[in-house]
Amino acid sequence: EGVRVKVPASTANLGPGFDTLGMALNLYSWIEMKPVDSTVFRLHGGNLEGLPTDKSNLVYQVAQSVFAEAGVTLPELEISMKSDIPLTRGLGSSASAIVGALFAANLLIGEPLSQAKLFDMATALEKHPDNVGASLFGGIITAVWDGTHADVLRIEPPADLEVLVAIPDFQLSTSKAREALPKQISLQDAVYNVSRTSLLTAALTAGRLDLIPAAMRDRLHQPYRASLVPGMARILEEATAHGALGAALSGAGPTLLCLTDRRQGADDQLEAFLLEVLGEQGITAQTMRLK
Ligand code: HSE
Repeated sequence: EGVRVKVPASTANLGPGFDTLGMALNLYSWIEMKPVDSTVFRLHGGNLEGLPTDKSNLVYQVAQSVFAEAGVTLPELEISMKSDIPLTRGLGSSASAIVGALFAANLLIGEPLSQAKLFDMATALEKHPDNVGASLFGGIITAVWDGTHADVLRIEPPADLEVLVAIPDFQLSTSKAREALPKQISLQDAVYNVSRTSLLTAALTAGRLDLIPAAMRDRLHQPYRASLVPGMARILEEATAHGALGAALSGAGPTLLCLTDRRQGADDQLEAFLLEVLGEQGITAQTMRLK
């Protein structure tokens, strides 16, 4: 018998919480896994085009790492995948594949591994805990990783918190966006980010959406990534004047993310602003209203 899992997309950082904060989004990928006589892959939909359909496939490899950890031998799998998460756009598509593969493989063999163990394995593969944490636990997560073990706390998202994303029509690899970062930052900038990440985490926990505009600012990664996403600097600066609680690069980009308050109903104005700023830079983008 096979298993089927549904895994959410995620946005990492939320501005100041670089490699720390993550939030699951209601945009999904699906993985089915079944033991068979001879390994076969079925990839459905455009977002998976070009992925390997042999045993080098990430989902297959990750599943085998679960079986090895659990002392189970299951070398031949039928793996079916479908995804609504655009690839390499900063919406956690690779994290969702890793989490889906870990979860499905563990489920297939009767769940011998704990969620905490799956989280450690997922983080070791991604090298940062924010996207995989959100995809695995849902909601908003705050996480730390010591290189071996990850600790995480899930926060229930405030009921009125909504998300508007603008997904540019170009890809940006996480490695390229990480290479743009400096090796060292000043104490002043470190304090700037620690204070805002703390305030943002507490504000989200307490449902204090009014504190998000002050909290969702960053000097650790976004200033260095701004040149990779034309229009981004202006969007981060001016989105609050167009009805956003705050704006951020989603993960390593290029997607731009705005947090909004459902009660303010400002999404139309904000959407027009995002498309206009990107359009001025010659960038076509797709917007999505998510939660
Ligand atoms: N925290 C990571 C980064 C997320 O910003 O590089 C990448 O998906």
